[in-house]
Amino acid sequence: MIKCFQDLKRPPVWLMRQAGRVLPRYRKLRETYSFRELMETPQLAADVTLMPVKDLGVDAAIIFSDILSVPTALGMEIEWTDFGPKFLKPLCTEQNPSQSLKFEAEKFEHVYQALDIVAKEKNVPLIGFCGAPLTTLCYMLQGVSSKQNFPEAKKFFYQNPSETEKLLDFVTDVSVEYALQQIKHGIDVFQIFESNAGIVPEDFYEQKVLPRVRKIADAVRSKGVPVIFFPKGLGCGLRMITSEVCDFVSIDWQTSIFQARQMIDKEVGLQGNFDPHLLFADKETIAKEIEKYKPFYEKNPDWIVNLGHGVLAETPLENVKFFVEKIKEFF
Ligand code: CP3
Repeated sequence: MIKCFQDLKRPPVWLMRQAGRVLPRYRKLRETYSFRELMETPQLAADVTLMPVKDLGVDAAIIFSDILSVPTALGMEIEWTDFGPKFLKPLCTEQNPSQSLKFEAEKFEHVYQALDIVAKEKNVPLIGFCGAPLTTLCYMLQGVSSKQNFPEAKKFFYQNPSETEKLLDFVTDVSVEYALQQIKHGIDVFQIFESNAGIVPEDFYEQKVLPRVRKIADAVRSKGVPVIFFPKGLGCGLRMITSEVCDFVSIDWQTSIFQARQMIDKEVGLQGNFDPHLLFADKETIAKEIEKYKPFYEKNPDWIVNLGHGVLAETPLENVKFFVEKIKEFF
């Protein structure tokens, strides 16, 4: 088990997208502040980071920011609408996409200030993160997330292979810098979110993306900070995830955790992977699903409990709390 969780005598539990969405205190703050204001005001971001620790009882905090802070630091302008992020000038529409980017390190400053505040106040491990290069680049190219599977971004990969390589390198190098700074500002664990791993063929992922994920992970691990990698939709490609890539792999809700265990290097711990929609069920159903993981945990103590993707908006708060409590008392 990751060192910072070792004192728990049960699997640790935290939830992707725990900060926001379901918390009444967060919803209340959002009546006064925009999402961007919450993210970019260090004290507010720090407060929101710690909210789920108090209000949900989770065992870790994850810094309140977004994977799109990397494109922002590369000079891209993003509008945060009620339907999600919208880039004003997606790279697909640029003549020379890689020439249009310029890294401005100071755009990350508010994240580091928020981390400093959390590091002082926290009583649980603090998770830092970034998007993985493919997912980050998909948003940069396509500009919005509402179009399923990023068709424009995928076309771009095939039509502009050398520009794709350059852009992936750019995103990777900035992510390395960002991750190393997060470590200087007190994070205990680092998660790499590859929410779009499933939108490209497995060999594309293996050849063009995984080496870049490794570059980020290697930099983080060389500082003694463990890495959790979340390659959502990777499917059978999970066999590529060895202990050379990361310390833990977060399994999506589509994949059976038992199957995942068969496919992934035994040295790598697993995180996940309850279906986020399960939390809309009644408590008895939720409890039964949790109990199904008992045989898994008995054989695999290197397990961090999480969902197989983020907590969904409108999930009943009571159920989220029940889920966390049940995990704590059952295992
Ligand atoms: O886990 C946490 O709560 C920590 C903070 C965090 C956010 N986004 C805050 C957020 C993290 C780790 C992310 C990651 C993120 N952001 C991903 C990867 C994980 C995933 O869900 O696949 C992606 C793809 C994004 C991009 C993004 N940010 C989208 C598509 C949206 C709009 C839809 C949505 O999730 O509401 C966001 C907005 C966002 N990021 C919110 C929060 C709390 C909602 C903002 C609000 O309206 O209050």
